[in-house]
Amino acid sequence: MLLPATPENVERSAALLRAGGVVAFPTETVYGLGALAFEPEAVARIFEAKQRPSFDPLIVHVLDDAMLSRVVAEFPPPAWQLAGLFWPGPLTLVVRKASPLPGLVTAGLDTVAVRMPSHPIARALLASVGEALAAPSANRFGGLSPTRAEHVEASLGDRADVILDGGRSEHGIESTVVALEPRPALLRPGAIPVEAIESVIGRLRRDAAFGPVRAPGQLPQHYAPRTPLRIVDPAGVSLQARKRAGVLSLRGSFEGYAAHRMLSRGGDLREAAARFFEALHELDRLGLERIDAQPLPEEGLGLAMMDRLRRASD
Ligand code: TXA
Ligand code: MG
Repeated sequence: MLLPATPENVERSAALLRAGGVVAFPTETVYGLGALAFEPEAVARIFEAKQRPSFDPLIVHVLDDAMLSRVVAEFPPPAWQLAGLFWPGPLTLVVRKASPLPGLVTAGLDTVAVRMPSHPIARALLASVGEALAAPSANRFGGLSPTRAEHVEASLGDRADVILDGGRSEHGIESTVVALEPRPALLRPGAIPVEAIESVIGRLRRDAAFGPVRAPGQLPQHYAPRTPLRIVDPAGVSLQARKRAGVLSLRGSFEGYAAHRMLSRGGDLREAAARFFEALHELDRLGLERIDAQPLPEEGLGLAMMDRLRRASD
């Protein structure tokens, strides 16, 4: 539903977001597709709506320092320097994430990309929701980033609960993404020139942003379990071979494994995606010899989870 961004419609959108919905909203760069950053099932709906066959870490949008402090574990001095100069505005900073932030937001990484937008509608929405919003660009996977509400509607249709129309985005190009963790690097050139950033904190590595073209979802860093992982039907694994292994299943339960994580009792893929990275992290921490991952149905969010399992298994 495309709605003009009146104060009433911003309130209405905020209520939908608080109830776990997804709302497209204007920012000064491009339109974003937002959901509550701390509600993994709401975040899973973003990936569903974008029809992404893989998980990418999302940018978390905050209103102010109080909201920021709930999202990040630490904000180093160069981050404060850059924030002081460029926030609110089109700069995204990658720093250590706060532990309650769901793994689905960061695709399992222990860092989070965060920015404080300047667009008055984005800020009104954040103020009304009262909590951080995870939001990638509001386009379907592979599409162009939307700079008008009509672009969002053409790309996502009614996959967003509401599309707030705030007119044309001022910059029309995404935010510049700068990592401060694990080391200072330019991850994506964007609306703020890299020279302006380097004049404040010194030279940034650029290899990550300007390397060879990568497949979708192929980032400079990706969370991968250290424990060897294979995709296998656990029903066919012998009891002997289960002893020192863990199993990750959608809904089945399997006897004899040293550890078991079930993603969704009812076999619901959205619920499964919401638990996915935490379950992998938990199994990975147990010092198991191996993780057996049950193949998931390759539809909807199952595609993105299988993509991640395949990357983890090679
Ligand atoms: O202007 C923008 O940044 C827009 C508006 C809506 O804010 N958002 C946007 O989000 O472009 P998205 O999801 O399309 O792009 C997020 C970028 C990706 O390049 C992603 O790889 C990177 O940020 N990113 C996010 N979290 C990261 C992390 N923890 N480490 C490294 N890169 C990260
Ligand atoms: Mg995008």
